[in-house]
Amino acid sequence: MTVSAVIAGLGAWLPPGVVTNNDLCSRLDTSEEWIESRTGIVERRAVSGGMATLDLAVEAGGRALKAAGVSGVDAVVVATTSPDRICPAGAPEVASRLGLGPIAAYDLTSACSGFVYGLATCAGLISAGIAKSVLFIGSEAFSTFIDPANRTTAPIFGDGAGAVVLRCGSPEEPGAIGPFDLGSDGAQADLLAINGGGSRQRSATGLGHGEVPTEDWYLSMAGRAIYQQAIARMTESSLAVLDRAGWSVTEVDRFVGHQANIRILNSVAQRLGIAPERALINIDRVGNALSASIPLVLAGAAAGGELRPGDRVLITAFGAGLSWGSTVLVWPDISIDSPL
Ligand code: COA
Repeated sequence: MTVSAVIAGLGAWLPPGVVTNNDLCSRLDTSEEWIESRTGIVERRAVSGGMATLDLAVEAGGRALKAAGVSGVDAVVVATTSPDRICPAGAPEVASRLGLGPIAAYDLTSACSGFVYGLATCAGLISAGIAKSVLFIGSEAFSTFIDPANRTTAPIFGDGAGAVVLRCGSPEEPGAIGPFDLGSDGAQADLLAINGGGSRQRSATGLGHGEVPTEDWYLSMAGRAIYQQAIARMTESSLAVLDRAGWSVTEVDRFVGHQANIRILNSVAQRLGIAPERALINIDRVGNALSASIPLVLAGAAAGGELRPGDRVLITAFGAGLSWGSTVLVWPDISIDSPL
C-alpha cells in the first residue's frame, strides 16, 4: 500500500521585537517608500537579548504538536540556515526541550527552499517506513547574519519559525503532500552566501580566528541576479510540479510562494497565469524568513480564513545554493496556532 506524509497540525511563532521601515531609516541611507515599493516589506521581526533560532523552533514546534493533538513523534527535523552553533545540529536539543525523548533528530540546510526540501525529506522518512510521524520545523534568526549597515540586505530578512506535524496517511486524503519538484545550481552559489565561519575560511592560509573580514561575517547578495533567478526557477518548478500532479493552473486555489519580495511573487504568479488574489502574502509583516517563510504564511492564512479546507495549494520556494523546490497539497481541516 502506498503511504504519504499528511499534515496533522501547524504552528508558528514570531519573536516579539518588531523592526519597522522607519527604524531602518534612522540608521541607513534609505527611505520607507523605497523599501516598501521595492520589496513589499513594511516591518519584520528580529531576535535580541540572546534569543536564537532554537528558541523560536521550540515555540513553533510546541504549538504544532498541540495543534495536532499529539505529545510524541518518531523524529524531529529542523530546517535552518541560521543555526545557534555550527555543531551540533539543533534538532536534538529541540526534541529534548519539547520532552520528546531520545528520538531521531537532525537539521537540514537549504536556505529559503528549506521548507520544501524538508517536507520532501520528511515525506521520504514516512513513505520509507522509517518514521510514522515527524515534527518538521523551519526556524530562522537570520537577522543575526545580516550586516546592520548594509541597506540592500538589512531591510529584507526577518526572524520567525513555523512547524508542521506530519503523520502517515493515504495519498488520497486532504493534507497529503506531494508530488515534489526539487532542483539546484551550485555554479551560482556565490550569488547568495555567507563566506566566513566554515572550513574554507578556517583553512585559508594565514587567517586565524578573530581575523574574519567583516564582509565575510555577513550575508553577501547579488540582489538583481537573485531576483531574476528567483522568478525563473519558481515559475519553472511550479509548472513542473503541476504537471507531475496532473493539475492545471486553473485548478490552483492558493499560490504560496516563498516570501522574498512582493515583486518576485507577483511576477511568478503572472507568468503562471494565477490571479494576484489567489496568492497568499505576509511579506509586509514578516519579511523574508527563509525556511520559516512558507509555514508562517500558511499559518496566518489558515487562521485568518484565507486558506480553507479543500483548497488546492501550490507551494514554491527558491533560495541560496542556488536551490528551489515546489509541492502541492489539498488543504486539510486541521488546527492552527498562528501569531498573525
Ligand atoms: N534604499 C535605497 N536605495 C537602495 C536600497 C535601499 N534600501 N538598496 C539598494 N538601493 C539602491 C542600490 O544601491 C542601487 O543604486 P545604484 O543604482 O546607485 O547602484 C539602486 O537602489 C537599485 O539597485 P537594484 O539592486 O537594481 O534594486 P532592485 O530594484 O533590484 O531592488 C532588491 C533591490 C535587493 C530589493 C532586489 O534586487 C531583490 O529583492 N533581490 C532579491 C533579493 C532576495 O530575494 N534575496 C533572497 C532570495 S531567497
